[in-house]
Amino acid sequence: MTATGPGVPRIDTSRPHPARVYDWFLGGKDNYPVDEQLGRQIMAIEPAAARAARANRGFMRRATRLLAEESGIRQFLDIGTGIPTEPNLHQVAQGVAPDARVVYVDNDPIVLAHAGALLRGTPEGVTEYVQADAREPRSILEQAGRILDFDRPVALSLIALLHFVADEDGAHDLVDTLVEALAPGSCLVLSAMTADFEPENVRRSIEAYTAGGVTLVARSQAEMAGFFKGLELVEPGIVCVVDWRPEAGGGGEEPVALYGGVGVKA
Ligand SMILES: C[S@@+](CC[C@H](N)C(=O)[O-])C[C@H]1O[C@@H](n2cnc3c(N)ncnc32)[C@H](O)[C@@H]1O
Repeated sequence: MTATGPGVPRIDTSRPHPARVYDWFLGGKDNYPVDEQLGRQIMAIEPAAARAARANRGFMRRATRLLAEESGIRQFLDIGTGIPTEPNLHQVAQGVAPDARVVYVDNDPIVLAHAGALLRGTPEGVTEYVQADAREPRSILEQAGRILDFDRPVALSLIALLHFVADEDGAHDLVDTLVEALAPGSCLVLSAMTADFEPENVRRSIEAYTAGGVTLVARSQAEMAGFFKGLELVEPGIVCVVDWRPEAGGGGEEPVALYGGVGVKA
């Protein structure tokens, strides 16, 4: 089944899509039976999958807040945004700095269909949505450049995105191209899947995603570090997302299969 019609983006509901499976893990309603089916299959393999999705959102919130509060960043470029889930990144950034400018980017038509919720920001700030593929970083820079001033610091977030882009599909090229365009004081915020903690469960999850037609790659801590070359890692470096600057009273959770880290461009 496919949603069509004037102005309606083509949404293929015959096979699972990463944004919708992730929405299912987060308890959202913007997913279809094929997405739920793969989500349940993954939960049977890795019962911590839904907790991993929530932990990843926590990482996004803490990293965004840190950059807005302590680094004074007022511009955010979030690629691989996903279906809106409150609080969205602009709500976190504009909660600290109402004048923050946020550009969201995703290539899934379902995210475009729900982009309205991403555009309800503060009157002082700006939120914009760009439908684009992360593997075409120059096009993203060109479109985002209408909203963001690349001569000033930008927080570039690629959160739970890069495990859908294999090295041979240009994962490093896209990060390098985007980071190169950033001004000093800009930051790269990354989280991505790893098999370092639960290798067998992750191997079987990758098999299930691949059978559903979705590319998924796991990276080691050293491979993650390769994305931050030339940047200075913020403490505590590249760690499991649950251990990245947990809130007071938080921390000590069992690991999930995602590394997170933040690097600053000198
Ligand atoms: C797991 S969701 C993460 C959502 C959000 N960043 C978060 O961490 O909560 C991954 C998102 O990346 C998007 N995505 C995957 N491959 C992409 C690509 N090549 N270009 C742009 N977006 C992509 C998917 O459509 C999906 O919305």
